[in-house]
Amino acid sequence: MSDDAYDLVVLGAGSGGYACALRAAQLGLSVALVERDRLGGTCLHYGCIPTKAILHAAEVADAAREGARIGVHATVDKIDLAGVRAYAEGVVGRLHKGLTGLISSRGITVVEGEGRLVTGDGTAPAVVVVTADGERTLTGGAVVLATGSQSRTIPGVVPDGERLLTSTDALRLETLPTSAVVLGGGVIGVEFASAWRSFGVEVTVVEALDRLVPGEDPASSAALLRAFRKRGITVRTASPVSAVETLPTGVRVSLDDEAGTTLEADVVLVAVGRGPRSAGMGYEEAGVGLDRGFVEVDERLETAVPGVFAVGDLVLGLQLAHRGFAHGIFVAEEVAHRTGRLDRAPVLVPDEQVPRVTYSDPEVASVGLSEAVARERFGEVETQTYDLAGNGRAQILQTSGFVKLVRRKDGPVVGVHLVGARVGELMGEAQAITSWEAWPEEVAALPHAHPTLDEALGEAHLALAGKPLHAHR
Ligand code: NAI
Repeated sequence: MSDDAYDLVVLGAGSGGYACALRAAQLGLSVALVERDRLGGTCLHYGCIPTKAILHAAEVADAAREGARIGVHATVDKIDLAGVRAYAEGVVGRLHKGLTGLISSRGITVVEGEGRLVTGDGTAPAVVVVTADGERTLTGGAVVLATGSQSRTIPGVVPDGERLLTSTDALRLETLPTSAVVLGGGVIGVEFASAWRSFGVEVTVVEALDRLVPGEDPASSAALLRAFRKRGITVRTASPVSAVETLPTGVRVSLDDEAGTTLEADVVLVAVGRGPRSAGMGYEEAGVGLDRGFVEVDERLETAVPGVFAVGDLVLGLQLAHRGFAHGIFVAEEVAHRTGRLDRAPVLVPDEQVPRVTYSDPEVASVGLSEAVARERFGEVETQTYDLAGNGRAQILQTSGFVKLVRRKDGPVVGVHLVGARVGELMGEAQAITSWEAWPEEVAALPHAHPTLDEALGEAHLALAGKPLHAHR
């Protein structure tokens, strides 16, 4: 057993954890980063990156299949899932290699093994790690909990990796199913439904609430539903699942609806949310407060144990990699500030200013407040919806959708909601608009490059400023 002391010990090397380690090292802190699996965590290995690679392959399949519509005749002979996976794994592998090199070049000590938080009487918090060579105790001036989240399921449904799949299992499939039921019409559900449909799978999405992507503005949910139906994806909203039964050749799903509907398919993807990974790692024993498994933190992301912080999916709120990055950077700077290495205390970005993108076809993206939340908060609001039908680039890409703006009455734009192919790429400007509290007149004054999808944002702001160009008012 060896004992090591660091300025900062980070438990978990996913988006939140490794960002924290990198920023802390940059600020001159000595850092240990503990990971039991692979550097990069869920996002890099089982989430954001491989799923987006698969969605890109899906887009290529659609482009080939639909090429004849624009005079380019092609056929899709086969979806070679092994080939798709090899491509996705190649992307992941290159990013993983780059990240590993970056972490090593910053002088961060990576400790491989299962970590557990411990606190002593009046002593600095520590992480005990069970490594291949025995136990190591890493003492930290500060400890950052960054152990992320894991797939949740519903009572009575235990994913088996073959017919009942989590999203991680779905990424590892050897062959494509002919049919699939997707439980949950949230972000994971609609992204897999979209990709599988592009690969020719018969997909039914079952959502308990009354709309797809219920976290988005209802206008976006409605547009996504229309687009999915047009693509041949069956969507059943307001349909909680009552039972899932494995059959010799497939799966049967019973819905808790008036007709008592049952659905059969080759596989079921369970995408009913992700829960915090906070059990069995000494958190509660050390005095860290938990609320339904989420780590309770104050506005500086500090737990009830002084010097112990939590970041990313462990903290109740949006479960997004880039929120994890922002949390990690924030805590690194907070610790550097408290120890005199940084003059100014960092500012934490509120969740509502974190951009959200669902990479289905069409994409759904938003930042800021929905119309309903803005009304609740400000009373009077104005909205403007610009249909992508009037946008040259959208016509070229043959996509439909809209830009919806929500503005405080006689005030700044507080919400941007987008649906359409590639609208996720517009999040940069959208985020600057809501975060810097831009007024429609200010954005309208900026020429937007023609022909881009970005122009649709400009057009919507022109309309909201009372001088629509390519739109009827
Ligand atoms: P989610 O919370 O987005 O959606 C889960 C859905 O399942 C909800 O709409 C819920 O109403 C529904 N549901 C729950 N119980 C049900 C039942 N018994 N029957 C039918 N429907 C039921 O969670 P999801 O999609 O699993 O994703 C987990 C997290 O990962 C999310 O926070 C998401 O933001 C994040 N993520 C983000 C991505 C992105 O930014 N592009 C991609 C993938 C995941």
